[in-house]
Amino acid sequence: MRKKHVFITIAFLFVCIVVIFVISSVESQEDMVKRGKYLVDAVAACGYCHTPRAGADYDPNMYLAGHPSDSRGPRYNVNMMQQLMEQDIFMFTSTKLSAFSGPFGTSFASNLTPDKLTGLGEWTEKMFIDAMRTAKHQGNPDNRSIFPPMPTKHYAQMTDADLKAIWAYLRTIKPIKNDVNPVLNQFGRPF
Ligand code: HEC
Repeated sequence: MRKKHVFITIAFLFVCIVVIFVISSVESQEDMVKRGKYLVDAVAACGYCHTPRAGADYDPNMYLAGHPSDSRGPRYNVNMMQQLMEQDIFMFTSTKLSAFSGPFGTSFASNLTPDKLTGLGEWTEKMFIDAMRTAKHQGNPDNRSIFPPMPTKHYAQMTDADLKAIWAYLRTIKPIKNDVNPVLNQFGRPF
């Protein structure tokens, strides 16, 4: 009888420990997403380029969805850029403030939402962290470099914990279908 009591007490304690563990890990995931949102919106200002403008303000229907696929964006070739640089002009941006032309070519802010086909839906946390740290497209060292003005030099210095929090938050935002144009080279052609 005594043995049975001891067993029930141990089993009860075990269940309590499991429940506490599950609750605290759910809480810490929530904290991580909260911190990610804070970093994305208030500190690293990802939307500054990745959320296109509708007029003077951000387009609320395109939160972090990248340069709109139905908006052309600037496309200057190397000759035009040379002439502009003589006038001390380095970079042009579209009226949406999400596409940029310069001596590097033309870049279009990517879709950071979890949309499967057009956003980061198929990306893994590792791809994201590697992309942010190495400045190589999709975090693959054999790929092209990520184009300006993505501030990779700065974000590469973030801690793993911060990058993980940003990734955790990006997984929770609304998926938006927006097939962003791939980068163009200095001649205005696909890279
Ligand atoms: C000053 C503008 C700007 C800001 C701010 C910015 N980005 Fe970007 N980002 C870009 C542009 C432009 C591209 C497209 C570059 C390319 O295709 O090579 C890009 C591309 C990306 C990509 C795709 C990289 C790849 O492998 O193709 C990711 C992921 C990304 N940004 C995440 C972020 C996150 C997260 C933040 C905030 C922490 C952020 N960006 C802030 C401009 C910006």
